[in-house]
Amino acid sequence: MTTATLAEVPVDTSIQIPQLQSDPYAVYRRLRAEAPVVRIPAIKRIMLTKAADTKHVKENWELFSSDDPLTPMKRAFLAHTLMRKDGAEHKRERDAMAPAFKPRVIKGCWQPLYTQVAEEYVGRLPRGETVDLFTDLAAPFAARCLTHLLGIPEASDADMIRWSQTLIDGAGNFGGVPELFEKSDKANAEMDALFDACAERAKADPDQSALSAMVNADDPIPKSQIYSNIKIAIGGGINEPRDALLTILYGLFTNPDQLAACKSDALWDAAFEEGVRWVAPIQASSRLVMEDTEIRGHAIAKGEVVMTVQASACRDEDLYDDPESFNIFRPKAPHQAFGNGPHFCQGTHIARRMLAQIMLPMLFDRFPNMTLPDPEVVKFWGFGFRGPLSLPVTLN
Ligand code: HEM
Repeated sequence: MTTATLAEVPVDTSIQIPQLQSDPYAVYRRLRAEAPVVRIPAIKRIMLTKAADTKHVKENWELFSSDDPLTPMKRAFLAHTLMRKDGAEHKRERDAMAPAFKPRVIKGCWQPLYTQVAEEYVGRLPRGETVDLFTDLAAPFAARCLTHLLGIPEASDADMIRWSQTLIDGAGNFGGVPELFEKSDKANAEMDALFDACAERAKADPDQSALSAMVNADDPIPKSQIYSNIKIAIGGGINEPRDALLTILYGLFTNPDQLAACKSDALWDAAFEEGVRWVAPIQASSRLVMEDTEIRGHAIAKGEVVMTVQASACRDEDLYDDPESFNIFRPKAPHQAFGNGPHFCQGTHIARRMLAQIMLPMLFDRFPNMTLPDPEVVKFWGFGFRGPLSLPVTLN
């Protein structure tokens, strides 16, 4: 297509951030049908909602860089993390953490350890009572597993959860609110002090963790990058398994036939994939356009920022029948909840193992008659990250 025949990207001024936080899926359904490439002034980006387009952008990193200049991530992390790097520079840093994510290590090291953690955390849930699984299980379980994977087991669950949220709030602090950066600065100082101590231990006594792999490498990446990439994993390794677990449970409780099938036939892997497809824990990722190009016949200029909405891609009618429903029996089809291309989630297999193979079967084994007494109280929220804000269940 020549430049002359390309259309301008349409603009939608009606879409505002509060609507994207409370009910994004209605917006995405309309956009997929009417304007799959659309400029949204409220988010200062061009939004892409079709699966083919989000995949195309994520896979073509030379044309669509991860170094989104609009997010204050560098300010929040006081570093340029691997998530915002491209090409060889990105690969070197990602490879540095890779030994901790190898299937052999997951099976031999993290699976038994995470099973112990799950036994402890499920074991302390009070039978017969109603508890919020967000605060009482999903968040602390995700935090504890992550401390082991990263090599910082001295960190408390509460600190991990606070650091993670502080980094996320800082990276999303588009308005530059000083207090949010003061909090992220304080969290960075606390994390740096802990990492110094843990790095010394890992050098003296190496283990399978990401920190140990990085500090003991033959040709280590700089310490600043080791620390900032541990931080990116803290910022991105708690919310997603937490929200995925709560979403899957909500989907099962509100579809009792599917829950019954899961319990009788151990369909936890299918429940996991369907849960993350249905409500992708990371809903969207942005990319910087490096050269003039086109998407779906629209001119996209160098310097624009495109937002790939994997949440919408995961509900694209081109790929799924009845995409808005939670249905663990739907035919297998690849989804984009873990992204695509070089930045494909490094924790994918760990998350699957933690939830589908450990937590979900154990939870229903211990509490086979667990119920969600009032599904109406469960509210999903979030534009960048999304999941239930609470999940009050009765444990029986
Ligand atoms: C259900 C759980 C999870 C989901 C849905 C999820 C989703 C994602 C997505 C969509 C991305 C790509 C972002 C982009 O393209 O810009 C990503 C990247 C990443 N995830 Fe996950 N994630 C999950 C769990 C985890 C866990 C447990 C870890 C453990 C540390 C982790 C570590 C990472 C890292 C390090 C990256 C950056 C990879 C890179 O930039 O090369 N994730 N994740």
